[in-house]
Amino acid sequence: MKVLMVCLGNICRSPLAEGILQHKALERGVEMEVDSAGTSGYHEGELPDPRSMEVAKKHGIDLSNQRSRLFIAEDFDRFDRIFVMDTSNRRNVAALARNDYDLAKVELMLNVSHPEMDMSVPDPYYGGDSGFDNVYGLLDEACDRFLDSIS
Ligand code: 4NP
Repeated sequence: MKVLMVCLGNICRSPLAEGILQHKALERGVEMEVDSAGTSGYHEGELPDPRSMEVAKKHGIDLSNQRSRLFIAEDFDRFDRIFVMDTSNRRNVAALARNDYDLAKVELMLNVSHPEMDMSVPDPYYGGDSGFDNVYGLLDEACDRFLDSIS
């Protein structure tokens, strides 16, 4: 299974989601390829935000091998599931879908843990550190539920 996590900048939320899912899949012995991308190229080539790196590290997860990259239409071919962090990301990703098959791969991350509620992972970029702990908790739960659903 190949999973792509998507947010706006690919420096705060989706790098955390990538790291958490990768970590949990390894722990559970589930074979999974996980990557992340952003719908904007503002931070292309950059490391994850230091606040994301820090909260991940607190939980034993290393994000230092990640670099921000742009989401491209070819990602629909490379990945089985594409989890978007918020409804704006969902619109931007859906706009690049070439057909219904592409579109069917796209799901809001929090609909995994809170089905059909269309909740967004709040963008922590302009907030304080507590925003990152909150994001971590939401993604931790969603990744657990996702792995439950496929095992
Ligand atoms: P992310 O957060 O989408 O979770 O990576 C953001 C990072 C950067 C910006 C916005 C959101 N920005 O406007 O530069």
